[in-house]
Amino acid sequence: MDKIINILGFAGSLRKGSYNRALLRAATELVAKDAKLEIFDLEGIPPFNQDLEQAMPDKVKEFKAKIKASDSILFVTPEHNYSIPGVLKNAIDWASRPYGDNSFDGKPAAIMSASTGMLGGARAQYQLRQVLVFLNMHPLNKPEVFVTFANQKIDEQKVD
Ligand SMILES: Cc1cc2nc3c(=O)[nH]c(=O)nc-3n(C[C@H](O)[C@H](O)[C@H](O)COP(=O)(O)O)c2cc1C
Repeated sequence: MDKIINILGFAGSLRKGSYNRALLRAATELVAKDAKLEIFDLEGIPPFNQDLEQAMPDKVKEFKAKIKASDSILFVTPEHNYSIPGVLKNAIDWASRPYGDNSFDGKPAAIMSASTGMLGGARAQYQLRQVLVFLNMHPLNKPEVFVTFANQKIDEQKVD
């Protein structure tokens, strides 16, 4: 296949030693030959404010443009209190707006998660899938990637 598939990946953790950020970096090395995985850092996306929807912060404009330019999205998420972290939900909310300009519309998506718990973020993944319904995305059902007990498997000192 001649066409390169452009994947945009982002992790729902701002933590320097984040296991999910590490997972995303590892994915860039495993990506198929006919695909490119670009990482977008959610650091700097301000809290969502609907008053700013028509004059979005530059970082949000950049995020929306990168999503639109990509063929598919890779969500890499921690689990916070059985759900996706506010950082990720906040970024998704911005990119889904203003009404009628949902940057995710119609895109395929894949999900991975890492957590220090025994379910590896499974509950967060299923909550994310619910959000993807409204975003009109097409998440891959399988394979499912859950990294359990991530603190025993990922070297936190190996940061970007
Ligand atoms: C606010 C908060 C809530 C958490 N809730 C969960 C949870 O519900 N399930 C779980 O498996 N881990 C939970 N954890 C532990 C995370 O799995 C762990 O902090 C993990 O390292 C976060 O991902 P990161 O390394 O990419 O930042 C929670 C952590 C925080 C800070």
